[in-house]
Order: sequence, then C-alpha cells, then structure tokens
Amino acid sequence: MAGEEPYPRKILQYMEGFLVSKTLFCACELGVFEHLQGSQSSASDLALALGCSEDGIERLLNTCVSLELLTANTDAHGTVLYSNTEMSSMFLIKSSPRSLCQSIEYSSRTIYLCWHYLSDAVREGKNQYEKAFGVNSKDLFEAMYRSDEEMVKFMHLMNSIWNICGRDVITAFDLSPFRCICDLGGCSGALAKQCVSAFPESTVTIFDLPKVVRTSQQHFVSNQDERICFCEGDCFKDELPQADLYVLARILHDWTDQRSVELLAKIYQSCRPGGGVLLVEALLYEDNSGPLTAQLYSLNMLVQTEGRERKASDFSRLLSAAGFTHIQIHNTGKIYDAILALK
Ligand SMILES: C[S@@+](CC[C@H](N)C(=O)[O-])C[C@H]1O[C@@H](n2cnc3c(N)ncnc32)[C@H](O)[C@@H]1O
Repeated sequence: MAGEEPYPRKILQYMEGFLVSKTLFCACELGVFEHLQGSQSSASDLALALGCSEDGIERLLNTCVSLELLTANTDAHGTVLYSNTEMSSMFLIKSSPRSLCQSIEYSSRTIYLCWHYLSDAVREGKNQYEKAFGVNSKDLFEAMYRSDEEMVKFMHLMNSIWNICGRDVITAFDLSPFRCICDLGGCSGALAKQCVSAFPESTVTIFDLPKVVRTSQQHFVSNQDERICFCEGDCFKDELPQADLYVLARILHDWTDQRSVELLAKIYQSCRPGGGVLLVEALLYEDNSGPLTAQLYSLNMLVQTEGRERKASDFSRLLSAAGFTHIQIHNTGKIYDAILALK
C-alpha cells in the first residue's frame, strides 16, 4: 500500500531462525516433552521437577506454545497447565518409534558447533573439525567418530530419518528383482530393515567400518532380523561383497567427485551383470534454486565433510563415468530422493 514502511519480515525471520532451533534444543535437553508425556503440568511443578528456575521455565514453555510444540490451558483455579501437542508426542519423546530426539541432540551438540565456523568453511572451502573440536580431519570419519560416544550419536542421527521417510526411498523403484543387496555404508541398518520389509525375497548385507558394524550389531539390529547380515571393511581399500544391488544412501554426499567415481567404479566391478546401484540423496534442483533444505544440507556438507549435495545431472555424470547405464531418477517430494542405475 502507498506510504507503508517497508517491513523486512523474511530477513527478521532468518536472522532469528537460530533462536527457534535453540529453543527446541533446550526444551529437549531439559526433558520438557518427556516430563509432559501423558500428563499436564504447571510451570512451577515443571520447574521443580526439572531443576529449573520458575521464571526461566515459564518463558521456555510459553515460547514452545507459540511454536505449537505445547498447548496451554488455564484450570478452574487460574493455573496455566502445559501439555504436549500430538506432534511433540510423536516426534519429541525418546521412546516414540518416530523420535527425533537423538537427531536434535546431534544438531545441538555437534552440527550447531560446526556452523559457528560457517564463514571460515566458505572462505577455506573445507570442513571445520579442527576449529570446532580440535581434531584433524585428514581422515574424515576418524574426525567424525572422534570418540565412541560421538559415533553412537551419529549413528542415532542416521537411524532416525529412515523411520520417517525410509519407505519412500526404498520403494521408489521395484527392487524385487535384486535379491542380494549390499547397503554400503549401511550404518545402523535402518534402511536395510525397510528394505527387507518392503522386499520379502531380499537379503541385505550391511557393509561398514569395523567399529560401526560392531555397534550396529550390538545396539541397532537384532538377531531376529535374519535377512540382514554384516560385513566389516573400508570401501575404498577392501574388497566389496558381491551383490545384485548396492544401496548408497547419503554416501556420495560425503565425498568429492573424484572419490565418488572411484567408489562407483569399484562397485561396478563387484556388481553382478544385470545388477545395479541405488543412490539415495537429497537432490538439488537443476537450476540450483532449491530445495532450501537440500541447499542448507550442502552447506552442512561443506562444514562437516569433503562432499556436497548434488543435482540429478551431477549423479548421472558420476554414474556414467563409472560405467553405469539406464539411469532413472525418482523425486519423492520429501527430503531424500532415489536414483537407480544398472550395470
Ligand atoms: C552419512 S553416513 C550414511 C549412513 C547410512 N547409509 C544412512 O543413510 O543412514 C555414511 C556412512 O558411511 C560409512 N563409511 C564411511 N567411510 C567408510 C569407508 N571407508 N568404508 C565403509 N563405510 C564407510 C560411515 O561409517 C557411515 O555409516
């Protein structure tokens, strides 16, 4: 309207975006959602239960109400009682099968600290483990798994997303002709579980670094999952298990184009004729205009890895360079997409 002052709504929103993230991190870390699960509570009761100041917790709770993570109702005595929303009960409770708590913890304790050095990462074009954690990142996964605790936290981060959108990527193509599947860098086995559940004739071998395999066997995949087995190794140095299909979920985004082609070429050699490779990645639009999440993830790859997020055409180029043909792309409409290519 004429005469109206310009109002930078979006810029203000972006400037303050981290306040929202930190509110969520804090409420999870303090155990707000856990405590409210199944019962409502006043700010003073919560303050007592969680060992917090009453004023502090009240501000936090009211902010969570504004973010639609909690609801507030006033009882007959005029006391405000807070309770979880349906969304918080489903995603912000540790015992929920769709819990995002471990991802939130990793975002808060690791990713957030790396992002403090985003400007340095952009200037230098490399990850920031040295500054953020004082560790050398010459070997990327040595830096990422700088302690057993950090490795388990990372595995939980990897695990949680596939409970939410694993089925979409694994059923993007009919994988039933591929009976013997290798989930390369299969980590906690969450996608392998989705795979054996969607394709009852298939067996999946999770190939990963030795300590990841051992942790996965101990803490993530039960002996009941009879169609899932494990193989320890280093995919760049060791022989790969023979398979009809190699699943590479969020693997190539860790590495440069050169290392990606090196790995794909090695897979091509081990792959049975008629077999293939399924890439699962967050695809960028061809004109680079989004999606915003994938662009942000690409910045995160800069801060945390040696790789990047890529466009479908970039993956086609890498796959073709390694010898694969019949490349098909499937956009799921969620964060992660799927690309199938054949030998
Ligand atoms: C970003 S995570 C992806 C995990 C899993 N595919 C997923 O999407 O949840 C990368 C995985 O590659 C594994 N990895 C890294 N370097 C490896 C290597 N040299 N050989 C085998 N696995 C490796 C890591 O341990 C980790 O499990």
